[in-house]
Amino acid sequence: MPSVLLIPSTAAAFLHTPKTVALLQDAGYSVAVAAEKDSPFAEYIRVATNHEPVSINGRIRGYKAVLMAPCTPDAPLPEATCPIIAAPIVGCGDGVPSSKGKIITLPPPQEAVSYGLLGKGRVATPEQCVEAVITALTKQDLAGMDILLTAGPTIEDADPARFISNRSTGKMGTAIAKMAARRGAHVYLIHGPMQAAVPFSSNIEAIPVRSAQEMLEAVLATVPKSNVAILCAAVADFAPVQYSEEKIKKGKSQFFTLQMRRTPDILATVGALPNKPFLVGFAAESNDLAANATDKLVRKNCDMLCANDITAPGCGFATATNRLLVFQRNGSCIEIPLATKEHVANTLLTLISKLAIRN
Ligand code: C5P
Repeated sequence: MPSVLLIPSTAAAFLHTPKTVALLQDAGYSVAVAAEKDSPFAEYIRVATNHEPVSINGRIRGYKAVLMAPCTPDAPLPEATCPIIAAPIVGCGDGVPSSKGKIITLPPPQEAVSYGLLGKGRVATPEQCVEAVITALTKQDLAGMDILLTAGPTIEDADPARFISNRSTGKMGTAIAKMAARRGAHVYLIHGPMQAAVPFSSNIEAIPVRSAQEMLEAVLATVPKSNVAILCAAVADFAPVQYSEEKIKKGKSQFFTLQMRRTPDILATVGALPNKPFLVGFAAESNDLAANATDKLVRKNCDMLCANDITAPGCGFATATNRLLVFQRNGSCIEIPLATKEHVANTLLTLISKLAIRN
């Protein structure tokens, strides 16, 4: 098990440390926490993490990464040859001191405050810190790849209270974003309102949208910056023809008709662009999988089309696992067997990187 040394160097560490330790362990690392043997913090580490703290004197050996979180700029940096990930506290100085080793500095999240702290005093969250550790220890084989990725459902509003949508949770799309970012790709994640959270990574730029039309506009604005486009979103096929500013009344009839129109086909629109990126489409099918997928591949001018049988056990909406059949322009079909969506995402990304580079 690769081991990580966590050096929490401030009072805020009381809040961060147990969660950071748990997340690192969940990610498969063994963790040592540094604390002065006689300090009250050492006793806290023992109780809160069920770990004996280590005291570090001088050189640090045998760890795959050092995580200094939270830290202040005047915290002495350990002499380590492995990557050092540092989460400095905003307003406690100008940054972390330099060191001979590779230092990755994590800014606090822009949009949220951690633990209710405002402005000064903010620090990267345990989730951000752990994702940065994982990224630092992952081979950056997708560095230089700029991926446009759509995920989640779209929502087509009918009135201020009602809408048309579907059961997509965004799990497959966010798994692709997370694994691609870990491997060094820059990801533009254009997503509808989804249950899955946007993964914590400085390599992911999230662009939230609501409707198919908004998603199309965001995609077209992002295409010129991307060399690969993976359109994984479950775009609503139909939207109400008219949006009613006022809530539509039930009326007295037992029946109600809502007139709908087709939404723009984002995948086909990107496929028709003169300088289209390497284009990957998805297809959720319940029957005639191969025939429908091949038809979509050609009709929407994709380079690759990933089909999943949404009726098969462990596949489709809201599941943690998936199985994909990947169809290519040369007529070949590769199976990515049933596995976690993250595992499937990794295999798919390897396939895309091989083919996209060749193209
Ligand atoms: O035709 P179908 O909806 O099955 O095609 C699925 C693929 O097309 C997915 O990649 C999906 O993201 C994309 N799509 C789209 N815009 C639509 C409908 C589907 O980009 N309006």
